[in-house]
Amino acid sequence: MMRTRPLKVALLGCGVVGSEVARIMTTHAEDLAARIGAPVELAGVAVRRPSKVREGIDPALVTTDATALLKRGDIDVAIEVIGGIEPARALIHTAFEHGISVVSANKALLAQDGAALHAAADAAGLDLYYEAAVAGAIPLVRPMRESLAGDKINRVMGIVNGTTNFILDKMDSTGAGYQEALDEATALGYAEADPTADVEGYDAAAKAAILAGIAFHTRARLDDVYREGMTEVSAADFASAKRMGCTIKLLAILERAADGQSVTARVHPAMIPLSHPLASVREAYNAVFVEAEAAGRLMFYGPGAGGAPTASAVLGDLVAVCRNKLAEATGPGESAYTQLPVSTMGDVVTRYHISLDVADKPGVLAQVATTFAEHGVSIDTVRQQGKDGEASLVVVTHRAHDAALSGTVEALRKLDTVRGVASIMRVEGE
Ligand code: NDP
Ligand code: HSE
Repeated sequence: MMRTRPLKVALLGCGVVGSEVARIMTTHAEDLAARIGAPVELAGVAVRRPSKVREGIDPALVTTDATALLKRGDIDVAIEVIGGIEPARALIHTAFEHGISVVSANKALLAQDGAALHAAADAAGLDLYYEAAVAGAIPLVRPMRESLAGDKINRVMGIVNGTTNFILDKMDSTGAGYQEALDEATALGYAEADPTADVEGYDAAAKAAILAGIAFHTRARLDDVYREGMTEVSAADFASAKRMGCTIKLLAILERAADGQSVTARVHPAMIPLSHPLASVREAYNAVFVEAEAAGRLMFYGPGAGGAPTASAVLGDLVAVCRNKLAEATGPGESAYTQLPVSTMGDVVTRYHISLDVADKPGVLAQVATTFAEHGVSIDTVRQQGKDGEASLVVVTHRAHDAALSGTVEALRKLDTVRGVASIMRVEGE
């Protein structure tokens, strides 16, 4: 039975994502109504610049007063696609105070304040959905939160930032420069308002925090996630990676400790073998492996950024939230019953590729090898190339604790024969 009275939607933000949400809501209005069981009406659009021409949007719907839009009394669902912390946070709380369920794509806010937002939604008996906040169009939040709710997730590893994958892919495949590739990603609508969030790994870390919370039923915040960006990755690193049959990706990796008593969460560039499925994730695509006890290894793949792909995830949430409204129900809220501590990076165990500039003279290799051994880091391979009394030494280790590797590097820097540590890169996916 179709309800004739429409569900009214306030669109907060009408930029790269919001404009596509509005377009699809208009062009697919009949299908959305049929799927929901009631028409959905765009009842207001809050923006910063009201005079900007917005194709397909009735200018009468546009306002700069998002709070007044939420308070006017007839809104059922708010879609927050403004981004950043404020005013997005205050607006979401205002929505809950006025009986309005929320769909958001705002990973920065959810990673910083997810617990309080979930608590406010729960207290008000409303929905907070955010599929678009992690990995763009890829259905990942809902499968992890609902489809895998009966399983135990032990590990999540993937590429969760489209902009940095686009840049790294261009640097690797076409030899493009970093800035040139970033400019292209920005023009395509992939980058955050401040692309530092992308290239310094904050965006991926926010997504990692959200995924860790869902995967391990615990609370993880942005600060809990170890983070390294990709601005230091150089053409020389790609050349080293190629020699090892690898490429370089910015990865988010979440792991449950073997004893199940803690978790780790990290974002950093890493070398991965070309044979690994993540190596062939190109442009702004994302891909995430989820390892669950009973299900085994699942892979989620698709467009990780961009207006239309992200709008797809937002609209999926809109349909779900509207259905819940009609059923006078709510979907699953936060599940954070385990309160597992998030360990520091020093506890992480992985392999390393270390590139050293050393003096090319007898005994140097032995000195370097001894330093690794003294710190309990076992060497897998060593490659040395010398010229003019200097040499480049590339050491690849077996799995070791990050703390042990840091200690090794500190000691190596103190050796007279080591002129410099050119790069340290983790090696994953083997
Ligand atoms: P944009 O910068 O393109 O759009 C932001 C929108 O918010 C603009 O319409 C802007 O108005 C409006 N806005 C800014 N400040 C205010 C304010 N104070 N009051 C009302 N409106 C305001 O961002 P995106 O669309 O790219 O991103 C939106 C959200 O979606 C962010 O949280 C982002 O992280 C997330 N996201 C983005 C993806 C992408 O690929 N772009 C992918 C996944 C998630 P005006 O138009 O007047 O400037
Ligand atoms: N800036 C983000 C990215 C948008 O590049 O992945 C999608 O969350």
